[in-house]
Amino acid sequence: MSPSTEIAVCSEKDVPLGQKKVFQVKGQAILVYHLKDGFYATQAHCTHAFWPLKGGKILEGYTVQCPFHHAIFDIRTGEVVEWANFPPGIQLLNIVRGKKALKRYKVNRREGKIYLQGV
Ligand code: FES
Repeated sequence: MSPSTEIAVCSEKDVPLGQKKVFQVKGQAILVYHLKDGFYATQAHCTHAFWPLKGGKILEGYTVQCPFHHAIFDIRTGEVVEWANFPPGIQLLNIVRGKKALKRYKVNRREGKIYLQGV
């Protein structure tokens, strides 16, 4: 199967506005977010120390904060907005765990369903 092949993941109503939900797609945990301007999808685990992002807060409407060491990612691009900074001293770990963006997946919507590309 080509990486550009679409995979049906859920219906739009499975992820209410302002929320996020994890789906298993081809053996990978993927987090689908419903933001004001649409649906987005990223890997479900933080790139810092792999903590699940499903319990993270959505901030400013478009970023997600990891609940473990508080790294913040832009949900729309996957890029790091702020790297791990909690508790104080965690920055020492950053020598071996440098900034790394979340993997993102293209979301397509049709007839109330969510499809992902690039999984
Ligand atoms: S595991 Fe997410 S910030 Fe450390």
